[in-house]
Amino acid sequence: MSTSTLNNRNRARSLAVIAMASALVFTTACGAEGDRPGWKFLPGMMESVPHDTFEANPVSENGGMLLPPEGTIPVSGVPFPYGNTEEDAIRAGLELTNPMQPTPENVARGQHRYEAACLVCHGVGGEGDGPIIGRFPNPASLIADHAKSYPDGRIYHVITHGQGIMPAHALQVLPEERWAVVLYLRQLQGLLESGATEAASGEPEPAPLAEDTAADAIGGGQ
Ligand code: HEC
Repeated sequence: MSTSTLNNRNRARSLAVIAMASALVFTTACGAEGDRPGWKFLPGMMESVPHDTFEANPVSENGGMLLPPEGTIPVSGVPFPYGNTEEDAIRAGLELTNPMQPTPENVARGQHRYEAACLVCHGVGGEGDGPIIGRFPNPASLIADHAKSYPDGRIYHVITHGQGIMPAHALQVLPEERWAVVLYLRQLQGLLESGATEAASGEPEPAPLAEDTAADAIGGGQ
């Protein structure tokens, strides 16, 4: 009998022993029935670490939600590097221009969005007399000189972040539609025909609220 045959036999025998041992071990884990889970290998895979709702997040530094890293592009794909501050509103007015041409289609698209998202407060003609008035403070007129003096980028900023008590409308009006709404506002303001779509930039006074404002309307008007 050659040494190599002997080695082969030994190897085959050890393999058979290992196979039987593993089969025995693994089948014990199959002994689960009813409430008895059987014998557990790698229990970490059966017993995951439970986290309760609202429990502090052990991964983040302050135990809260993880913030997206700086420079993250929003899911809409349109970065808007302006915060909800007066300074950034002014900066948006100086830096952004309306990329949308004032074609009848684009203005009509803006009108459609305006009527869905803005009319309820600002009214059909933008005069601050929408159907919600009485339950919500009158917004400033959008066809007054103050709003006319806002550059396009600033109006885009107002829609995105809101202004004062006006809530942000970033979720209701898509970025592209915001520019269409700006076009429609310019038409309401009578600035589209004259070609003066980019109004004077600068720092307008805070918006005046119309007569029967906040205090009465918020608490009172049912
Ligand atoms: C829930 C009511 C409400 C809705 C809806 C609303 N606004 Fe306003 N908006 C206001 C109020 C109130 C103000 C005045 C805010 C302030 O400065 O305190 C205002 C202010 C503004 C201003 C600034 C006017 C100025 O002279 O300072 C613009 C521009 C404007 N809104 C545009 C829009 C557009 C465009 C939409 C739709 C996408 C819209 N708003 C939807 C209530 C609303």
